[in-house]
Amino acid sequence: MTRRRIGLKVNGEERGLEIEDNAILLDVLRDGLGLKAAREGCGVGACGSCTVLVDGNPISSCLTLVRTLPDGAKITTVEGLANGNDLDPVQEAFLEEGAFQCAFCTSGMMLAVKALLAENPRPTEEEARTYLNGN
Ligand code: FES
Repeated sequence: MTRRRIGLKVNGEERGLEIEDNAILLDVLRDGLGLKAAREGCGVGACGSCTVLVDGNPISSCLTLVRTLPDGAKITTVEGLANGNDLDPVQEAFLEEGAFQCAFCTSGMMLAVKALLAENPRPTEEEARTYLNGN
């Protein structure tokens, strides 16, 4: 298996990684970097529990080959939302509303909401439902 080096900025930290050509982003985040919030639910891009942000855009990390990312891509996982003990407003809102159900997909939901609000700060309920239908 061919290996390559790639540089990513993960939750604001420069990370130099040596990966195999077929390395999947979800596996690299969880097993390589110890960031366990993104989880594999379906493994086929249908449930959103593995959602992370790449340069601000939500993607299914279970389907993403790391080698397809641009060198220096900015990856945000839910571990990168809070600033120390200060939660991100999206995290605060989830807490206030008890929006967790079983919590398996919560990190993906939070990141999708973060991306939605960056794009559209005041979405209607219908716009939010449409945007989040992949989660
Ligand atoms: S695990 Fe379901 S979309 Fe990635």
